[in-house]
Amino acid sequence: MTIRPFTFFGGKGGTGKTTCSAAYALALARRGIATLLVSTDPAHSLSDIVDTALGNDVRPICENLWGLEIDAEAEAKRYIGEIQDKMLSIVSAAIVDEIKRQMEIAYTSPGAEEAAAFDKFVELMDKQGDPYEAIVFDTAPTGHTLRLLSLPEILGAWIESLIAKRRKSLELFKMAGRFEEDLMKRAANDPVIESLTRRQQRFEKSRKYLINPESSAFFFVLNAERMPILETSRAVALLEKFGIVVGGVVVNRVIPPEAGDFFAARLTAQEGYLRDIEERFGGGGRKLVHLPLLRFDVRGMEQVSEVANLIGGIDA
Ligand SMILES: Nc1ncnc2c1ncn2[C@@H]1O[C@H](COP(=O)(O)OP(=O)(O)O)[C@@H](O)[C@H]1O
Ligand SMILES: [Mg+2]
Repeated sequence: MTIRPFTFFGGKGGTGKTTCSAAYALALARRGIATLLVSTDPAHSLSDIVDTALGNDVRPICENLWGLEIDAEAEAKRYIGEIQDKMLSIVSAAIVDEIKRQMEIAYTSPGAEEAAAFDKFVELMDKQGDPYEAIVFDTAPTGHTLRLLSLPEILGAWIESLIAKRRKSLELFKMAGRFEEDLMKRAANDPVIESLTRRQQRFEKSRKYLINPESSAFFFVLNAERMPILETSRAVALLEKFGIVVGGVVVNRVIPPEAGDFFAARLTAQEGYLRDIEERFGGGGRKLVHLPLLRFDVRGMEQVSEVANLIGGIDA
């Protein structure tokens, strides 16, 4: 068993990501590991499955297990508020209104919530081991998550160009003699450059964690059907292109042989799909786990615990 500080569960909507991440997090907690279970999917359903009201602050679920549902809207507000405060502290009174207006626009722009959720995610990764020994991420459906995980690389370059622009404009200001004495002093430790640099360092760090198989594991959850297999194939290839190792695959809702006549045809089709899954994903040291179709939805810690018995060893 390898305990990695970061574990991600991804896959299409409805495949069982939330169920599996809750079960896996509980399996860690039962081994005595202080574990934080984080939902980054805007369609939160973690509270329902663990039967505890979770929110945008860390709350206890059971022994050794805590939960957090990232509220992207609240994070976006905080995130943009912070940037605004920093900007306002260095600009002249004349352009305060303009900055406020710009921030208002930034706040309602489509990428803001995603960026803010990502910032929170990087912040959690930055605090590796403190105080949680393991963090399990219940992620959003595939496309969204892949974008999120590739962000450190993309944002790194973007921030670098912002820093370069900021430096240039400070130079121009200086040349034009537009800085008053104390502004000059403040510009030497420009808070915008400082905060951008800090952010860039954090992104870089989280990228290092993401591509290190000893720090991070990424598991896909899929059903034994054609479309999810194809989508997962593409997603695995894309993650690996970014250097993120896929540790395993949970095949969820596997129809048990005793399912009866109604399922006979499906059972036959399933055999083929399971073979296909084995061929596509079974190599490269990846672990394959089957989770049978259960008689009921998974709800409450007792049922989560049963799923934990079935998939808890995926990191073996
Ligand atoms: N093996 C299973 N057997 C029966 N119901 C399941 C199984 N896995 C998940 N479910 C149920 O399917 C629904 C969707 O699962 P969920 O984990 O929320 O998916 P996702 O997070 O990928 O959207 C939930 O109601 C859950 O209880
Ligand atoms: Mg979910």
